[in-house]
Amino acid sequence: MIDGYGRNIRYLRVSVTDRCNCRCVYCMPGCGVPMLDHDDLMSFEELTEVVAASARLGVRKVRLTGGEPLVRQDVVELVRMIAAVPGIEEVDMTTNGTLLAPLAAPLREAGLTRVNVSLDTLDPVLYRKITRVGRLEDALAGLAALERAGFADTKVDCVLMGGVNDAGILPLASLAKDRPMSVRFIELMRMGECAAWPRSRFVPADEVLLQLPGAVPAGTQGVAELYRVPGWKGTVGLIRPVSHKFCAGCDRIRLSAEGRLKPCLHSAEEIPLRGLHGEALEQALRQAIMHKPRRSNIDQTHASDSARGMSRIGG
Ligand code: GTP
Ligand code: 5AD
Ligand code: SF4
Repeated sequence: MIDGYGRNIRYLRVSVTDRCNCRCVYCMPGCGVPMLDHDDLMSFEELTEVVAASARLGVRKVRLTGGEPLVRQDVVELVRMIAAVPGIEEVDMTTNGTLLAPLAAPLREAGLTRVNVSLDTLDPVLYRKITRVGRLEDALAGLAALERAGFADTKVDCVLMGGVNDAGILPLASLAKDRPMSVRFIELMRMGECAAWPRSRFVPADEVLLQLPGAVPAGTQGVAELYRVPGWKGTVGLIRPVSHKFCAGCDRIRLSAEGRLKPCLHSAEEIPLRGLHGEALEQALRQAIMHKPRRSNIDQTHASDSARGMSRIGG
């Protein structure tokens, strides 16, 4: 479906839980996180109904997010249900990867198309500091399991944080040297936990190119600008929501774990979909898409207007 600014909305991001087994410093407080009760979560049937209604309006790609999608019980079954929805061509997932090792093969068998793994450093001590509780070896085991299970077009997403992980850009990018994957560097967006962080934490993604002198532009893919480094099997990507907004080409809407539709990651507006069925559900989706804002007003100093932090909307 075409929105009010001529953009073709074909991508639905579905947060399946607000829970996470990690506590990344930019995403969640270290303790005392209020969580949804299980009854507040959309059931698999409800989620599949929203996906089916979205597909009737032109959505072709679904991405499961969280929190951490793999902490939702029986998520493999949800993948199977969504992959079977007529019109849905692709079911993807964004995960921290730490629970992925035993699940990669079943997820692929259930119909998962591609996986993006969030990984901010290859230094085990720093990894623990950033995630507060995660183990780097688990995330790396998850990545390896994806390869073994036959997943292609895997992406690694790293959020750039000045003075935290920017010294590790080159080692992380180098994952793409011998593997046909894309390593993408994301500019930190002021929202939730990191809304009030000092400006020095916000590193423009151009910094990555300074450390990869041979890199040449290789077009765009979704929200990422890709670069090739001669001799490397994979690519390096920049996601620059702060320094180079990509709102003009935005093709996505988001559903929260409790069934509220967010037309834009950064707007305060949310449309409750729970309890709506059939034509009423489609109508609510249509209205939400028509009212998707033109652009976000987030920048180096202005924080997101969204009342939700990342862990409650899934990026
Ligand atoms: P592909 O389908 O593989 O292209 O993945 P994706 O980039 O759509 O999904 P992923 O979850 O890997 O997103 C990467 C990061 O880009 C997110 O975690 C966000 O930080 C950022 N991002 C994704 N979509 C948007 C958006 O609509 N607006 C803004 N500002 N940032 C976004
Ligand atoms: N800015 C940019 N990216 C973020 N993520 C979480 N919080 C932020 C933020 N403030 C990323 C995670 C993960 C994805 C779901 O969102 O690292 O890759
Ligand atoms: Fe969990 Fe991802 Fe948030 Fe880290 S960024 S706490 S892995 S949801």
